Amino acid sequence: MQQSYERLIQNNARWVEEKLQLDPDYFKRLSLKQTPDFLWVGCSDSRVPANEITGTDPGEIFVHRNIANMVVHTDFNFLSVLQYAVEVLHVKHIIVCGHYGCGGVRAAMGHNNSGLVNKWLRNIKEVYEKHHVALEGIVDEEARVNRLVELNVIEQVRNLAKTTIVQKAWKDRTLQIHGWVYGLDSGRIRDLQVMMHEIEDLEPIFRYDDL
Ligand code: CO
Repeated sequence: MQQSYERLIQNNARWVEEKLQLDPDYFKRLSLKQTPDFLWVGCSDSRVPANEITGTDPGEIFVHRNIANMVVHTDFNFLSVLQYAVEVLHVKHIIVCGHYGCGGVRAAMGHNNSGLVNKWLRNIKEVYEKHHVALEGIVDEEARVNRLVELNVIEQVRNLAKTTIVQKAWKDRTLQIHGWVYGLDSGRIRDLQVMMHEIEDLEPIFRYDDL
């Protein structure tokens, strides 16, 4: 009997054939270098694949995904991705893309002990606390989760702006940070229109002036 994982290897072989039929140099060309214009910060949720939902090909988006698309300033994994994307690949846009119905955000709104994950979800609880009056005014639970999804994306856009990596780039080039939310049930991306592109977009206390 075929194991479920074997299907993936077979799909891969088929995919290689298809690509090579269209362009015999496809992989040779991709292997030489990557020049993506975009850094994607998305949720690990299996239903939000960056390339598929944006109609982009390999080589176009540098990707970082974690539970609930968080930008945590002590996360060396994320910061390494950010530094490489900004300083080496020179991406022009950073996109934080959350999604409605996010399990991470939902869990953060609850009171169950999730073990180690508590520490990660704590960052979302902080966003909740900051906006708790507005959130508690929303009666429908699903609508409340989805509003926190949006507020969380906005907060992560701001967290990116607070990093020295982004602020250093802003000193001498264009770098836009966008906040989007993907609808699992519609397939559509909504731009929250919270783009940040210069130091003036950030409260003075978070600005470094000697970079
Ligand atoms: Co999610």
